[in-house]
Amino acid sequence: MHHHYKHLADMLVEDHDHILEALDLIPAYLDKLSQGELEPRDVERLIEFLSQFADRCHHGKEEDILFPMMERRGAGFWEGPLGVMTCEHGMGRYLLRNARNSVRRYASGDGEALRALRHYLEGYRRLLSQHIDKENNILFPMARQLVGEGEGLEEAHRVEEEMDHESYLRELEELKRLAGKR
Ligand SMILES: [Fe+2]
Ligand SMILES: [Fe+2]
Repeated sequence: MHHHYKHLADMLVEDHDHILEALDLIPAYLDKLSQGELEPRDVERLIEFLSQFADRCHHGKEEDILFPMMERRGAGFWEGPLGVMTCEHGMGRYLLRNARNSVRRYASGDGEALRALRHYLEGYRRLLSQHIDKENNILFPMARQLVGEGEGLEEAHRVEEEMDHESYLRELEELKRLAGKR
């Protein structure tokens, strides 16, 4: 099942679909946590999924493979979308890190931390859904012009094997079940 992608962008678009599914769970997780129907550790599990699957694995494939390949083919870093995309990855990492800190504070009895958690997770959801939109509609069409079919795919598959990508897809199904979404 691994080698059905023609272009590296196809693999990244499929990652985006999974990331969007996880982002969709955020409102339900926040509501259920505030109603005591989910535990802080469940929310931490969703945050962990996002930081491993979206940030480490997916943004890793973009920053280590696709973006530098586009730069080598003449795409500008400072004047084009590459710099902005990389900056948004960093903003996402900040929001997730503080979401994790907030949910831990909430778990240890600080009721105020729930508002901070909502702020960070909703901010992350907004940032990343707009980011994915820009990549799907602006950056990837550019990538398809600059990068040929098959280029970078082997390297990207290697990243997925190292990350045990399949186990994250199973974890996503489990996260959906916890949210009552399936
Ligand atoms: Fe990205
Ligand atoms: Fe992306």
